[in-house]
Amino acid sequence: MKRGIYPGSFDPVTKGHVDVIERAARIVDELYVGVLNNSAKNSLFSINERVSMIEEITAHIGNVRVSSFNGLLVDYMEEIDARIIVRGLRAISDFEYELQIAQTNSRVNPNVETIFLTTNLKYSYLSSTIVKEFASYGGDISHFVPEQLVDRIYAKYGRTAPQGK
Ligand code: PNS
Repeated sequence: MKRGIYPGSFDPVTKGHVDVIERAARIVDELYVGVLNNSAKNSLFSINERVSMIEEITAHIGNVRVSSFNGLLVDYMEEIDARIIVRGLRAISDFEYELQIAQTNSRVNPNVETIFLTTNLKYSYLSSTIVKEFASYGGDISHFVPEQLVDRIYAKYGRTAPQGK
């Protein structure tokens, strides 16, 4: 069984992430979406909120499981018996950091392989940070995140969706 993990902060999950999840789930037998529980990072959504939002929007994909993890990714992979890390690459600017992480992980555990999926061009500009910035000013985020999550994101900023959206 080829078990992979798509790790990330997902604060919040975007349409770009969903696209990578759908495509990665076609490549591996079972895909974990691993949400990093990083207490050092000031997250907008709690770990439980992030996990349940991803569960909700991936409910239609049979071989996807959503979980949270603490500590090193390679240690968690050992725990769940996964060998493949999936990461999305939006632009060349992502590459240097991603290469560094991939090489470090493979140095620590040579059985681990990282595969990169190039982000769909439609979402190549998108990041969770941009979504939060837009939402915080009341901008329209409906193109950026799954429809079911839009109101929950505005609510974090004490806002409602802009009129007519
Ligand atoms: O969505 P992000 O924040 O870019 O995801 C980064 C993530 C979670 C993939 C990365 O920070 C990670 O794997 N963190 C867990 C700790 C770890 O294993 N670090 C070693 C990488 S050098």
